Amino acid sequence: MKLVTIIGARPQFIKAAPFSEIFRKENEEILVHTGQHYDKNMSNIFFDELKIPKPDYNLSVGSGSHGKQTAKMLEGIEDIILKENPDGILVYGDTNSTLAGALAGSKLLIPVFHVEAGLRSYNKNMPEEQNRILTDHISTLLLCPTQTAIDNLKTEGIKEGVINTGDIMYDAVLRNTKISDEKYKNSEWNYLKEKDYYLSTIHRAENTDKKEKLKDIFIALNKLDKPVIMPIHPRTKKKIKDLNIPLDNIKIIEPVGYLLMLYLIKNAHMVITDSGGLQKEAYFLKTPCTTLRDQTEWVETLENDWNILSQIDVQKIKTKVQRKLTCLQHPQPKSFGEGNAAIKICEAIINRGNINE
Ligand code: UD1
Ligand code: UDP
Repeated sequence: MKLVTIIGARPQFIKAAPFSEIFRKENEEILVHTGQHYDKNMSNIFFDELKIPKPDYNLSVGSGSHGKQTAKMLEGIEDIILKENPDGILVYGDTNSTLAGALAGSKLLIPVFHVEAGLRSYNKNMPEEQNRILTDHISTLLLCPTQTAIDNLKTEGIKEGVINTGDIMYDAVLRNTKISDEKYKNSEWNYLKEKDYYLSTIHRAENTDKKEKLKDIFIALNKLDKPVIMPIHPRTKKKIKDLNIPLDNIKIIEPVGYLLMLYLIKNAHMVITDSGGLQKEAYFLKTPCTTLRDQTEWVETLENDWNILSQIDVQKIKTKVQRKLTCLQHPQPKSFGEGNAAIKICEAIINRGNINE
């Protein structure tokens, strides 16, 4: 079988690694990097660390408005599909790269396989929500990470080609936690073992694009009872520089590779984030989390308060972050599968004629 796989943003590299390794054993995969993320520590570092095959094509679209960025990707991906004539297009997640890949495939009547299908925040102002809904509605196979995702699709009338594979990010965490531990336990990051810090990442448009919101987040982080380590996304870095935001309690570092990120999450007292992926990784690694958003598509993480949502309000953030961590006494149900999503996705794609769930 010949697949064209579209990736372009940091979380997609991490999701692609476990699948590519398995799929390529008996099948052909043409890897397309849209170039949505391009800095060394937003892109290359993941290919090196996770041994992701070198992309066959790099569209180098770079940054831009949603329309321009998606249009450039669409044009480039269409050319590649026409040239390669694949049996299917594989897309991950909810970024502009995801939508462009799905649209290009669907218009050329090539089956589209969507990994991380069915997630909903029910906030259509989020670019991610628009990308997910549109992608799901033109996909042939909807590869869902959770039962909630399957239920969401049912509500929208999508029942065919829907399958619960478990979450491929769980595969990635299971494969890499030990490697990460070995690499960093005796490094300059050793001091993190004291678990005396918060780990924070902020990059979602809904938080970074409103001056007051971004300021309030940083005021709250500055008032916390432990220092905050923040690997900073380039989008956020630009904004805090423009706004001249003080960083008294916050240690800003450049974006890190996945292995160091796992080490930072595992040892943190708590994760404070607006990232989709990080909420789950915190959950998988049994680190409590506070999510600085009004909704989450990963509702399973909210059970027993492992993850708590907070509106952007200085006092609310402070109170929620400094809560009593009762979650640590509660076991976690296996809502994200068994860590074998890559195999299940592979099987579903190869046997797609027989899917009937
Ligand atoms: C994108 C996704 C978001 C995902 C995130 C993962 C969309 C609409 N958003 O958001 O869902 O959570 O990726 O990290 O697809 N930039 C650089 N260097 C880079 C990449 C970006 O400097 O390598 C800067 C540019 O100024 C750019 C800004 O970051 O304008 C935003 O990048 P973009 O890819 O548009 O969106 P993300 O915020 O990364
Ligand atoms: N990540 C990373 N280094 C960083 C920040 C994040 O490796 O400096 C990883 C993180 O562990 C997770 C993924 O990138 O696996 C999440 O990406 P991001 O938060 O950018 O996007 P989202 O999940 O919100 O779409």
